[in-house]
Amino acid sequence: MSIIVSGHIKGGTGKSTIATSFATKIVQSGASAVVVDVDETSTSATWFAIREGEGRTPSVPVVQQLKTPVPVIIELSKKYDAVIVDVGARDIDTLTPLARICDLWIAPLGIGQPDLSATIQLYEEFSRKHSQHKAQRIPLVSVFNKVPSSWNTSEEIDAREFLAEQCPELVILKSYIKDRKAWRDSGRLGLGITEMPAREALKAIEEFDAFFAEALSHHVKH
Ligand SMILES: Nc1ncnc2c1ncn2[C@@H]1O[C@H](COP(=O)(O)OP(=O)(O)OP(=O)(O)O)[C@@H](O)[C@H]1O
Ligand SMILES: [Mg+2]
Repeated sequence: MSIIVSGHIKGGTGKSTIATSFATKIVQSGASAVVVDVDETSTSATWFAIREGEGRTPSVPVVQQLKTPVPVIIELSKKYDAVIVDVGARDIDTLTPLARICDLWIAPLGIGQPDLSATIQLYEEFSRKHSQHKAQRIPLVSVFNKVPSSWNTSEEIDAREFLAEQCPELVILKSYIKDRKAWRDSGRLGLGITEMPAREALKAIEEFDAFFAEALSHHVKH
């Protein structure tokens, strides 16, 4: 039904972390979801192995498909309510076939200059390819992740303003995800962030829930 990509040309921005938590949240809501890991570093597949090893429920299936993933993703989208694609940092030519078929593309980025520059590049490349999408627009949304949690930082606001200026039509989600230990712990434990104990992860969960709802509001209408 729905194909949601967590992807960027930049490495280490939180693509896999967001993909697995996104899928978990969908499964928790009672819908079906599968993660397709398109990355040979296998972060989502490893997360799944930990999860299965620990006997965690509900099951959040992860399949790995490194080569020509598009036909597999389309097949899976007929069986599952949502297919979440975790695509490792890739060149734009590898990302384009996925951009063409997705209903939502989430590009997480950090507030640093390399992530901002890479996001501008992704936006510009996708802008040139809008006509290849069935809705005539690649549904790209960007979200700031790993935002420093010190209370007095203006870095996130500065980064946001800079990105908005450079990319006038880019959707930059209002919600953002701070750098929190709970995220690293959830990865290590094979959990989605919303499965973490509230006493350890309340703020991370609240931030994620706000991001989840806002991101889905940009999903292509069927
Ligand atoms: N909000 C966050 N707070 C703290 N740590 C985070 C957060 N988001 C991601 N991380 C951590 O950052 C690291 C990189 O995250 P992740 O593997 O999801 O990035 P990626 O974009 O998939 O990387 P790659 O390009 O290698 O595929 C991991 O250790 C993860 O636990
Ligand atoms: Mg990854």
